[in-house]
Amino acid sequence: MMQRKFIFKSRSACETIALGVKLGELLSPGHVVALVGELGAGKTTIVKGIVQGLGVMDRRSVKSPTFSLVHRYEGRIPIYHFDAYRLEGDYEMIAIGSDEMIYGDGVSLIEWADRVSGCLPREYLKITLTHVSNSERYIELQSYGERSTRIIEMMHLS
Ligand SMILES: Nc1ncnc2c1ncn2[C@@H]1O[C@H](COP(=O)(O)OP(=O)(O)O)[C@@H](O)[C@H]1O
Ligand SMILES: [Mg+2]
Repeated sequence: MMQRKFIFKSRSACETIALGVKLGELLSPGHVVALVGELGAGKTTIVKGIVQGLGVMDRRSVKSPTFSLVHRYEGRIPIYHFDAYRLEGDYEMIAIGSDEMIYGDGVSLIEWADRVSGCLPREYLKITLTHVSNSERYIELQSYGERSTRIIEMMHLS
């Protein structure tokens, strides 16, 4: 399968949001973004940017869907924002209807995706965020499949 990896060093939350905006502008129906990283790594922060890049004007409405488990935002296409932190695993993710969203008409953004890896489609974009210091993070983009590889290329990061 076609793969590509790129590592970006972010120096502020603003820079992480800007990277998310750039990514969000390129996403189309069926894309799945799997977000991995510890609490406070910046998963929700980059989601705010992605959602803005998908055309949602007020990114303040973007919060980790801790109790509802999934949020839906209306951008230029539907956006499904999952947080798998409190899920037991794949079966619970399926139980909340993830398949219909992941294989549906919108874009899926999944925080703690490593906890529900069995629910991911064959092709997706994985983003791993790692804490470096108070204001710095490593952001690794890893594509699985042709579509997400194209996205990384179109971001012109290097
Ligand atoms: N470079 C950076 N990138 C992302 N977030 C950062 C960065 N520097 C500081 N932060 C802060 O770290 C916190 C990340 O929180 P959040 O995005 O909710 O993490 P997660 O969803 O991974 O638990 C925010 O308070 C954010 O402002
Ligand atoms: Mg979060």
